[in-house]
Amino acid sequence: MPDNDVITEIKHRVSIEDVVGETVKLARAGRNLKGLCPFHTEKTPSFVVYPNDGSYHCFGCGQSGDAFTFLMKTDSLDFRGALERLAGKAGVELKPRDDQAAAVDRAKERLKEACAAAAAFYHNLLRNNPAANKARAYVEKRGLTPSTLETFQIGFGPDSWDALSNYLLGKGYTSQELIDAGLVSEREEGGHYDRFRNRLLFPIRDHKGAIVGFGARALDEGQQPKYLNSPQSVIFDKSSILYGLDMARQHIQRAGHVVIVEGYMDVVVAHQAAQNNVVGTIGTALTDRHAELLKRVARRIVLCLDPDTAGDLAALKGSEVLQEHAERLAVPIRGERGLLGVERRSELEIRIMQLPRGTDPDELLLAAGGPEQWASLRDGALPLLDHVIGVVTGKYDIKTARGKSEAVQELALFIRELGDPVQRAHYEQRIASVIRVPEESVQEAVKRGRVGQGRGDKGRSQYAGHQNTLTDAQPSTPRQSGQPSPIDLNAPAEEHLLCLVVKYPQVTWMAGAPMPEDFTRLENRLIYETVTSAASEADKSELQVEAILDAARQTLDPALVAHLERLVVRSIEPDLFRFALPFELETRIKRLRQHNDQMWLQQCQFMIREAEETGDKETVEKLMQLSIRPLSRFRYYDPKPSTVFKDSRD
Ligand code: UTP
Ligand code: MN
Repeated sequence: MPDNDVITEIKHRVSIEDVVGETVKLARAGRNLKGLCPFHTEKTPSFVVYPNDGSYHCFGCGQSGDAFTFLMKTDSLDFRGALERLAGKAGVELKPRDDQAAAVDRAKERLKEACAAAAAFYHNLLRNNPAANKARAYVEKRGLTPSTLETFQIGFGPDSWDALSNYLLGKGYTSQELIDAGLVSEREEGGHYDRFRNRLLFPIRDHKGAIVGFGARALDEGQQPKYLNSPQSVIFDKSSILYGLDMARQHIQRAGHVVIVEGYMDVVVAHQAAQNNVVGTIGTALTDRHAELLKRVARRIVLCLDPDTAGDLAALKGSEVLQEHAERLAVPIRGERGLLGVERRSELEIRIMQLPRGTDPDELLLAAGGPEQWASLRDGALPLLDHVIGVVTGKYDIKTARGKSEAVQELALFIRELGDPVQRAHYEQRIASVIRVPEESVQEAVKRGRVGQGRGDKGRSQYAGHQNTLTDAQPSTPRQSGQPSPIDLNAPAEEHLLCLVVKYPQVTWMAGAPMPEDFTRLENRLIYETVTSAASEADKSELQVEAILDAARQTLDPALVAHLERLVVRSIEPDLFRFALPFELETRIKRLRQHNDQMWLQQCQFMIREAEETGDKETVEKLMQLSIRPLSRFRYYDPKPSTVFKDSRD
């Protein structure tokens, strides 16, 4: 646990009875404490404190919460105020909020500066150093001009384990900074080494032009991988960067559209060939965040797909294999990640530009007459769905009844994804006329697809096959020995659920998402609410931990951010199959609700015993009613053991 998670620290050190005891006169009753409720007027105590659980509940007015909510309500404090009070009580040092946020920004700036210094170092080597002879020959062979090398600041990473680190350490950067910037890697046995060796280096700039990472091409045959990229880091997130965008922006605006290719070399060569509205994804599918960046500059995306990808998309579509490829292939698959999804959510128009089979953009552009051919292919690019229709109908023998049926069914899956009824009608008509079937049969197939082929059905079989990955990662309770009354007994179930939410923010907009009230710990609830609102903003399906952390850093108290970071660090969440996510979510929510309801039952039973002792029949009756409230849900918690799923309950 990073020692900066002051919230957890505080909850270890301060007991709820001490906090409440300052305001309410408490009398011990068994394991619990009772007093007159500070939130409403009463003569007999119905306000109970549960040290075990770190919570309080008033049976008179229904108020409940933890140490934070108690202080916030009784002393009219905000979260920060309560945090400061509790930190003082616990003897935990709290960094001033502004300092902390500023420190994070400064640290990021330094990482970017280190990357800029590295780019200059590599570029200088490529231009002047004898060690870069081979690299110079290579760029020449690839047809890059000196002015292109300059513009893109292309460089050479020398065949040395420490040339770059020595240079940057000499400039005052620490080893840790070089690691955080992704420039050097750590050895398992300690120490570190330069990440990019004997490679051609493409500095990657974010849309503001700051260098945040590198793509490094192998120079020797057989050197693996062909491209080595910077690792994901606080400054580098592949899925939100478009290579070349900082330089292409004005040209995109002028042209009214952007062309997206899949490779560094393709972008560089395109710009050299005066096709300046070209940008590149970095080994990932087109994401909502890419779309977000682009829609401010143009309404149309022309996607220049690798012809194999473009051709195979229909073969891949719908198959489970696709899940594994979805990261890298920008194919118009169904579902959350697909291009169709990106198009629909971003309101960008996506067109597909297909090059002749076996030609790379860079080859085509460098050939004689290439740029003209490029322009005509680009201008003839088909809208996404028209392209899909072409591919699918080409795949089946649509002269036969069987071929017609298969093609219609396959296309129906795409049409289903269209939100706009006018578009849907348009494409139903088109499919009908291309395949030569009555329009009604297409409409029929689209409707049938909706009911019969929902994701749930598929998910079951997926889940069965991947159950092993789903049963680990139950976080342990961080508790030090010799601590007085541990007050976070609820934490495991809550944090277990929260870990899942943080890793897969899309669960917040899935059916059956957790409710804020499920989280009884204020810190967890606040984090959950932040994740929810971050996820509800534009780029849903591609939201990742980094994006959540960014949103959290901007809105949450640094102490909450530290708590969240601990969850992220501690969370060894397995990579879930998308189909398995709903089931995992359900399991964790159930576990938490079950826990919360059990707590509730215990609390009621405690009050009932108390009331029985004083012979207060009326209260006993009332409490009995209250206590059975969640009972109806217990049946739901305890489903019949499935023959298919491994039961992951304890
Ligand atoms: P390609 O294999 O198509 O390479 O990968 P390329 O861009 O045409 O490169 P050249 O022409 O052989 O030099 C396309 C893109 O996929 C990512 C890179 O962003 C690359 O530009 N990629 C590819 C990787 O990240 N890692 C790899 O090992 C391969
Ligand atoms: Mn290529």
